[in-house]
Amino acid sequence: MHPSDLQRIAVIGAGTMGAGIAQRFAEAGHEVVLWSRSAATLQRARERIAKNQALLIEGELLTASVAQEARARIRCTTDLQDVQGADFVSENVVENADVKQDLFVALEGLVAEEVVLSSNTSGIPITTLQAKCARPQRIVGMHWWNPPHLIPLVEVTKGAQTSDEVVQFACAVCRHLGKRPVIVRRDVPGFIGNRLQFAVVRECLWLIENGVATPEDVDAAMQFSYGFRLPVLGPLLSNDLSGLDVILTIADYLFPALSDAKEPSAMLQDLVAQGHYGAKTGKGWYEYPDDLAERLIVERDRQFLQLLKLNLGAMARAKEAMGQ
Ligand SMILES: NC(=O)c1ccc[n+]([C@@H]2O[C@H](COP(=O)([O-])OP(=O)(O)OC[C@H]3O[C@@H](n4cnc5c(N)ncnc54)[C@H](O)[C@@H]3O)[C@@H](O)[C@H]2O)c1
Repeated sequence: MHPSDLQRIAVIGAGTMGAGIAQRFAEAGHEVVLWSRSAATLQRARERIAKNQALLIEGELLTASVAQEARARIRCTTDLQDVQGADFVSENVVENADVKQDLFVALEGLVAEEVVLSSNTSGIPITTLQAKCARPQRIVGMHWWNPPHLIPLVEVTKGAQTSDEVVQFACAVCRHLGKRPVIVRRDVPGFIGNRLQFAVVRECLWLIENGVATPEDVDAAMQFSYGFRLPVLGPLLSNDLSGLDVILTIADYLFPALSDAKEPSAMLQDLVAQGHYGAKTGKGWYEYPDDLAERLIVERDRQFLQLLKLNLGAMARAKEAMGQ
């Protein structure tokens, strides 16, 4: 089956991720059943999708008529029975292994045998989610990044019992949605992206806690040097361009000096203990008075859109140059 033949997609969970994922499937022309336990969450999801689309329209990546048709293809429900008849499932409920395991058992009972069930877990092993399932070979990780309608990557994780065919199909679904899949061949904690992200976070915490730099300067050091390269080059291609001999020399003396902390730093633990969760509570490493957090998120998405357009443009130009 080609992903464009999928008739009905079930998106389970309508929070931050579920809403954006339902939106993406609907914009690609699929009928979507969006399930949540509460009608209020579904209402918020509808509002979030409309806001996401308004920015896409402003950025000329979506037309108003396609956006409206897509919204009309999303049917919201609080009845899990409505998942019946779905031919692909994307699970996006709370990050809790027991909840997800039970949900997968229930979902298996509602859809046909050949249906692929994907989980957007950030880090629970897919093998754990397969544990109670009757058809574990049909369960696969599809880890999107927030905001899911904008960030191109989806990590496709092969659990211990996931079939190769299902992994390949999940990758085809990603490409069909305009996403860039990478395959996580072994079901390791954090997959690829979060291992990389949290290696950086661990070092940021070490730098701040050891008085090397302020949070502002740590952010700036990343954004205006290493991070500046990353939209253009991955770290390994970047190393090749620098010279692996140089990288080895630096790694030799620097690796022993890097943080190998085995638990989150005291500063991070203290902030959380005091209720400072970041933008959503008005304070984290920075302060967010009034509606600053909301305005920052809109501005972030606007800038992501520009990056997305640059990348799309670069891909189109590269293809053209290769005569494709
Ligand atoms: N937010 C991110 O940056 C991000 C990125 C990638 C993946 N994820 C993963 O996606 C999934 C959803 O995350 P989110 O950020 O959308 O969270 P969210 O809190 O916005 O949404 C989670 C939804 O799950 C529902 N829920 C809670 N308990 C439930 C239960 N017992 N049964 C059924 N539904 C329940 C909540 O009502 C909520 O609507 C998680 O597994 C998360 O780890 C999150």
